[in-house]
Amino acid sequence: MERAQYGIGSDELTEQQFRMVSEIVYRFCGIHLKEGKESLVRARLMKRLRALGISSFETYLQLIEGPSGQDELRQMIDVMTTNKTSFFRESAHFDFLVEHVLPDLRKESLRFWSAACSTGEEPYTLAMILLEHLPGCSTKDVKILATDISRPVMAKAAAGRYGEKSVLDIPASYLQKYFSVQQSSEGRVYQIKPVVRSLARFACLNLLEPWPMKGPFQVIFCRNVMIYFDRQTQERMVQRFYDLIEPGGYLFVGHSEGLSGVRHGFTYVRPAVYRKNGVSATGWSAGRMGRRP
Ligand SMILES: C[S@@+](CC[C@H](N)C(=O)[O-])C[C@H]1O[C@@H](n2cnc3c(N)ncnc32)[C@H](O)[C@@H]1O
Repeated sequence: MERAQYGIGSDELTEQQFRMVSEIVYRFCGIHLKEGKESLVRARLMKRLRALGISSFETYLQLIEGPSGQDELRQMIDVMTTNKTSFFRESAHFDFLVEHVLPDLRKESLRFWSAACSTGEEPYTLAMILLEHLPGCSTKDVKILATDISRPVMAKAAAGRYGEKSVLDIPASYLQKYFSVQQSSEGRVYQIKPVVRSLARFACLNLLEPWPMKGPFQVIFCRNVMIYFDRQTQERMVQRFYDLIEPGGYLFVGHSEGLSGVRHGFTYVRPAVYRKNGVSATGWSAGRMGRRP
């Protein structure tokens, strides 16, 4: 067998088909499927082939490229994306927020964005932290925009229902205060309470496409998604975040991604935390840039 193939028989994914899939995924959502990911891609695509009763990747790719391929393309992106997330993930970020960011937020109107929020654990963690540590949170105009490219994960996020395993990292006092518990045939289900839910606005958004929001945001979380983008895409994205963040505001990225090697205008604060220079006309207390942790 001369050409590289991944899988056997009609399930084979040829090198050329892998390149085609990579190109489509890259064009649509910026995810860069590097060489070496062939088996992963094949396994994930097989889910779609099975669901559709299609027996070869060739037929599947014809469907994607055909006149009614748009819907299936979205489904393909859903299986190709990694949605791993958890409550209080990379908890150092939330400690930093509590100790160094929230005490400076005096404005009545505050905007946070959880960009690529997956199934909602990140924005809900943020919401619980704000309710606990932002004085006057429930009387201020506070909103957390929570977006993701994937419709199924957005639906799960908006529903705010989690199984027993998902809530393991939530401190007991938060769990008791911010979730109601129901019993189902599959065990306990934890439903986020309206007081938390009401801080969040969920919307489907592909980060590669134009953003309808005008900002400014005081804080943006974009964690564990840029790692899948190439440097060019990361640079463009970070610039767009920069433009939407208020002077003095913060960008949080995943600890394993950082911004080293990416040109940007932010000031490095600590691993995976960046700040836009300057002082907001109405928001942050002046001169706080000096109050570095
Ligand atoms: C690994 S999860 C990260 C979730 C959360 N931010 C965290 O750190 O736990 C990555 C998410 O990025 C989303 N994603 C991938 N490409 C995207 C794009 N171009 N626009 C918006 N979301 C995207 C995926 O659907 C997935 O839910």
